[in-house]
Amino acid sequence: MTQRTLVLVKPDGVQRGLTGQILARIEAKGYSLAELKHVTATREVLEQHYAEHQGKPFFEPLVEFMMSGPVVAAVVEGDRVIEGFRSLAGATEPTTAAPGTIRGDLGRDWGEKVQKNLVHGSDSPESAEREIGIWFG
Ligand code: RTP
Ligand code: MG
Repeated sequence: MTQRTLVLVKPDGVQRGLTGQILARIEAKGYSLAELKHVTATREVLEQHYAEHQGKPFFEPLVEFMMSGPVVAAVVEGDRVIEGFRSLAGATEPTTAAPGTIRGDLGRDWGEKVQKNLVHGSDSPESAEREIGIWFG
């Protein structure tokens, strides 16, 4: 069975009109979009999704940011898609993310309490199944 990952185009990506470019990079790489939806996240969903970050200084700013507008959630499929999408996304901080990556090409620091970095991608098979359950039931 091919691997699956959860990708989110975060509110900054949707608000800046970058959803199409981001999804196009995923498709151009050869992965497929198995599920896709436009949704405004609730606090409950985000507290589950970001459970590992509870208690960190950026947790509350992160939840506020992620509720600030709609996101596009996708289940993306393909062999080794978890590491492949993380590689397409680039490093967490857009300032230093490599050019050629989504965050490196399209993101920047906006001087806020949380890094607005356009996309989320699951970091392991266990996280992917857990996160797909949260966002797609
Ligand atoms: P993601 O989970 O969103 O794919 O990103 P990631 O693995 O690269 O980053 P992670 O460490 O899981 O952090 C989750 C999100 O929290 C925000 N963040 N801001 N110091 C900061 O300002 C800071 N640290 C983390 C980012 O939006 C990051 O993607
Ligand atoms: Mg993460």
